[in-house]
Amino acid sequence: MSYRITIEPSRHQFEVEPGNTLLRAALASGIHLPYGCRNGACGACKGRVVSGQVDRGLHAEGALTDDEAARGYALFCCARPLSDLVIEAREARAVRDLPVRTLPCRVQKMARLAPDVMLLQLRLPASERLQFLAGQYIDILLKDGRRRSFSIANAPHADEALELHVRLVPGGHFTPRVFDTMKERDILRLEGPHGDFFLREENPQPVILLAGGTGFAPLKALVEHAFQQKSDRPMTLYWGARDRSGLYLNALAEGWAASHTEFRYVPVLSEPAAADAWSGRRGLVHRAVMEDFPDLSGHQVYACGAPAMIEAARSDLITRCGLNEEAFFADAFSFAADSLPVG
Ligand SMILES: Cc1cc2nc3c(=O)[nH]c(=O)nc-3n(C[C@H](O)[C@H](O)[C@H](O)COP(=O)(O)OP(=O)(O)OC[C@H]3O[C@@H](n4cnc5c(N)ncnc54)[C@H](O)[C@@H]3O)c2cc1C
Ligand code: FES
Repeated sequence: MSYRITIEPSRHQFEVEPGNTLLRAALASGIHLPYGCRNGACGACKGRVVSGQVDRGLHAEGALTDDEAARGYALFCCARPLSDLVIEAREARAVRDLPVRTLPCRVQKMARLAPDVMLLQLRLPASERLQFLAGQYIDILLKDGRRRSFSIANAPHADEALELHVRLVPGGHFTPRVFDTMKERDILRLEGPHGDFFLREENPQPVILLAGGTGFAPLKALVEHAFQQKSDRPMTLYWGARDRSGLYLNALAEGWAASHTEFRYVPVLSEPAAADAWSGRRGLVHRAVMEDFPDLSGHQVYACGAPAMIEAARSDLITRCGLNEEAFFADAFSFAADSLPVG
């Protein structure tokens, strides 16, 4: 039997299975309660239990004092309900509610997804978690003061590590280091979360996801978040790349389509190699959307990739397919202002 939790003042509700913590169950239900370490050390998840019984669990003394506990406070990352509860908590409704943090991280795993795409898994210190919305990005802070932005490719419910998809920019300041000298266990510094590219969940309109190259990364996070939420909102992912190797997680996207009736996947190649033996869609990825959806007036579009692709998609989908300007959300992978010319 699960317990029903009601949050004041929002009156939002969620269920908690016996033994689960309030925070884990809230996040799994798409409710963004504030948190930091997720293990009873920082106090960021503190809130008041207005009515009902909780087991406050193990936590650091300084994170919740005896006096606070006596006044009804609990750390929601370690508290487990023993009855239905009413709790008082501040929910993050928007990106501005999420704290931007600077944290060290360790490169836990590196894997070549394609000749020019590297998967990086970054592990935060054991006592830290980064709270973010699916689709947001972080900045890697370099020792020389420069920074480079990368979208988080995993959804917030699976935040044991942060996953990045880094495309090699030959002659670039940072990405060649990722491919040539970076090793597992290296330490980096990151800052985030940043950005307002996230799924507008209050709107039931069908969604078109438009990815160019590693623009797939934040869309992967959006899709995995929507699946986790058991959303039945129709979603169609168009993923464009030059050749077959650019669809570096094609099997994953095909698997999503095979296991979710409301999800469709359309890969599009602009210059397939002969060896690709490509029989799928060809051309510019946003053109494929226009062919399939000549009327986008009832849709939302989430686009991510190179700035030129984003601009072409924005202009064509709005002027030619009747997409509402407010229904186009995008993250353009623009170059950093301190980029060096390719030499
Ligand atoms: C919000 C945001 C999210 C991003 N997310 C990702 C991501 O998930 N994955 C990812 O691979 N990249 C992402 N980027 C791009 C990334 O931040 C860097 O710009 C890119 O990795 C290049 O960094 P660099 O230091 O190697 O090259 P730089 O030293 O910055 O660039 C050197 C030169 O290469 C050229 N150049 C730079 N970037 C590109 C490019 N993308 N295409 C063609 N030429 C270029 C320019 O001429 C530039 O002067 C994102 C950018 C933004 C703004
Ligand atoms: S999130 Fe740090 S104490 Fe709960």
